[in-house]
Amino acid sequence: MGFGSRFCHVRGAKFLDAQRLTKTYRVGSETVYALRDVNFVALQGDFVVINGPSGSGKTTFLNLMSVIDRPTSGEVFIESQPTSTQSEGQLAYLRKTKIGLVFQSFNLIPVLSAAENVEYPLLLQRRPKPERQERVAALLAEVGLSDLARRRPNELSGGQRQRVAIARALVSGPMIVLADEPTANLDSKTGEAVMDLMRRLNEEHCVTFIVVTHDPAVSRYAGRRVRIHDGRLEEGEGNGVAASAS
Ligand SMILES: Nc1ncnc2c1ncn2[C@@H]1O[C@H](COP(=O)(O)OP(=O)(O)OP(=O)(O)O)[C@@H](O)[C@H]1O
Ligand SMILES: [Mg+2]
Repeated sequence: MGFGSRFCHVRGAKFLDAQRLTKTYRVGSETVYALRDVNFVALQGDFVVINGPSGSGKTTFLNLMSVIDRPTSGEVFIESQPTSTQSEGQLAYLRKTKIGLVFQSFNLIPVLSAAENVEYPLLLQRRPKPERQERVAALLAEVGLSDLARRRPNELSGGQRQRVAIARALVSGPMIVLADEPTANLDSKTGEAVMDLMRRLNEEHCVTFIVVTHDPAVSRYAGRRVRIHDGRLEEGEGNGVAASAS
């Protein structure tokens, strides 16, 4: 799949460190607090599951962790480097090389086929064509979409689009994957296959996962559970299966 065991020597190293994050939005004259004074650390190889009611700040939190969005105050360190002082170009490079994202709304590119959407991160990284073809085919097979590779997003069902988004997040071998309800539209069999893939990447390649989910199958596997409520983050218990380093 193109993942080396290159990350495993750093299992347990601090990858992400969020300190005192607050995010507010202005809506008219009102200030909405999406996150309040949140601290969070993720170690390389962690598998963290995030729960919380609708509107509690989960997607906002993932957007800050993936440096898509900047906090109103506080700092996100990635591999001990502060991100607030980095340029948009530097943050884009970080996302391109280290971070895989599965958005709640998938964010697929409508004019590209499933295969081209999955290939897109590899094009950004200027990987050679034979490697791109091999990886795209491998990832589409992993998520059970080999037969639908040429379809565009609007010719796919919700669950099929979700699987394209998952394949795209994993294709370039990221160190960390942030996923917003990745199994929400999948039947239990397909959801399990996706969970198996995430588990393998976590166990064999030390990929760090931070997953917003209400799916018990994903939650069961979590090394750590975190709850977000009213913009505040509380650490809960994991089952200790994954991320034994934490
Ligand atoms: N761009 C925005 N402008 C104004 N308010 C926003 C914006 N984005 C999010 N919010 C508000 O911030 C709060 C947190 O939103 P967020 O999307 O993080 O919630 P969530 O936990 O992901 O919810 P869900 O489970 O429904 O996806 C909500 O009150 C939401 O209305
Ligand atoms: Mg959300």
